[in-house]
Amino acid sequence: MTVIVTGAHGQVGRCLVALGGKGVTRAELDLSGAGTAGFRAAASSLFADSQRPDVMINTAAWTDVDGAEDVTNRRTVEAVNATAPGELARAAADAGVAFIHVSTDYVFSGTAPDGGRGWRPDDPVRPANEYGRTKSEGEQAVLAAGGTVVRTSWVWSGPEAPGRDFVSVMATLAENGVDPRVVDDQVGRPTYAPDLAGELWALAHVEVPPGILNVTNSGEPVSWCGFAREVFRYSGHDPARVAPCTTRDWPTPAVRPPWSVLDLEPWSTMTGRTPPDWRDSLRRGLGAGFRLG
Ligand SMILES: NC(=O)c1ccc[n+]([C@@H]2O[C@H](COP(=O)([O-])OP(=O)(O)OC[C@H]3O[C@@H](n4cnc5c(N)ncnc54)[C@H](OP(=O)(O)O)[C@@H]3O)[C@@H](O)[C@H]2O)c1
Repeated sequence: MTVIVTGAHGQVGRCLVALGGKGVTRAELDLSGAGTAGFRAAASSLFADSQRPDVMINTAAWTDVDGAEDVTNRRTVEAVNATAPGELARAAADAGVAFIHVSTDYVFSGTAPDGGRGWRPDDPVRPANEYGRTKSEGEQAVLAAGGTVVRTSWVWSGPEAPGRDFVSVMATLAENGVDPRVVDDQVGRPTYAPDLAGELWALAHVEVPPGILNVTNSGEPVSWCGFAREVFRYSGHDPARVAPCTTRDWPTPAVRPPWSVLDLEPWSTMTGRTPPDWRDSLRRGLGAGFRLG
C-alpha cells in the first residue's frame, strides 16, 4: 500500500511520513499554483502509472488563520485551500486513487447545537472567517470529486512542533515564568498530531468511504484556558498561573468559533477506533521533551 502525503513538512504531514507515507513538499508541488494548467499537469504526474499510489492524503493548507484575513493573501489562500483540494481530488479520481482531505472545525461557527452536542458531519457549515470559508469550499470540491473529507480541530505537536504551536508556546511561557491570560470562552478538543496521523493512516488502509468524517482526540471538551492550564500542570508548573479572559479581551483579525467540538461517534462507528483522550496525549507529548512535574 503506497500512501502519498502533501504538506510533508507540516505538523500532521511529517507524522504521516514517519508512519511510512511518501511525502510531497511545497517545493515539489506548490498548491498556490492551483487553477492553472501547469498545476493540473503537475498534480496528474503524481499519479502517473510508474509511481501510482493507492491513496493520497492532503494535509497541505494555508493554516495562518489571521493571515488569511489579509487581502494581500487572498489569492494564495483561495488557491491553496479552496481550489487545490478539488484539483488534487479530481486527478486522484481519474487515476483510481483514493483521496483523503484534512479539513477543519472552523467551517462551523456559532454556539453549541442542541444544548452541547458536537458538530456532526452533516450539520450545515457556517464559516466565520476566510480560513474556514476557503476550507469549506475545498471540502465541497473534494466531495464533488468523490473524495473523503476528515475534519479535525486544535492540532498541536508540542516539543516536536515544526512551528510554534499552542502547547509549545504555553510550555515555554511556563518555563520562562510568564503568566498568560488565555481565552476561556472558546471550547473544543485538542488533537495531538501523531494521534491524528495514526487515525488517518488507519483510514487509508481500509476501503475509504466518500463523504465527511470527524476525528480529534477524545475526552471532555475544554477551553483554550483550560488547555493551557493542563499544559502548565503536566509540565510541572502551577496551573493557576494561567488567567482566563474572554474573546473580546483578545481581539484577533479572524473571528474564532466559540464551539469547536466535533462529534466522534461516526468515526468510531466507521473505523471501530476511539482516539486517545486528549489529556493522556498531552501527558505523553509533553513527556517527550519537557520537564514533568
Ligand atoms: N493546526 C490546526 O490547529 C488545525 C486545526 C484543524 C484542521 N487543521 C487542518 O489540518 C491540516 C494539517 O494542518 P497542520 O497543523 O499540519 O498544518 P501546518 O503544520 O501549518 O502544515 C501545513 C503544510 O502545508 C504546506 N503548505 C502551505 N502552503 C502550501 C503551498 N502553497 N503549497 C504546498 N504546500 C503548502 C506547508 O508547507 P511548508 O512546510 O513548506 O510551509 C506545511 O507543510 C490542514 O488541512 C489544516 O487545515 C489544522
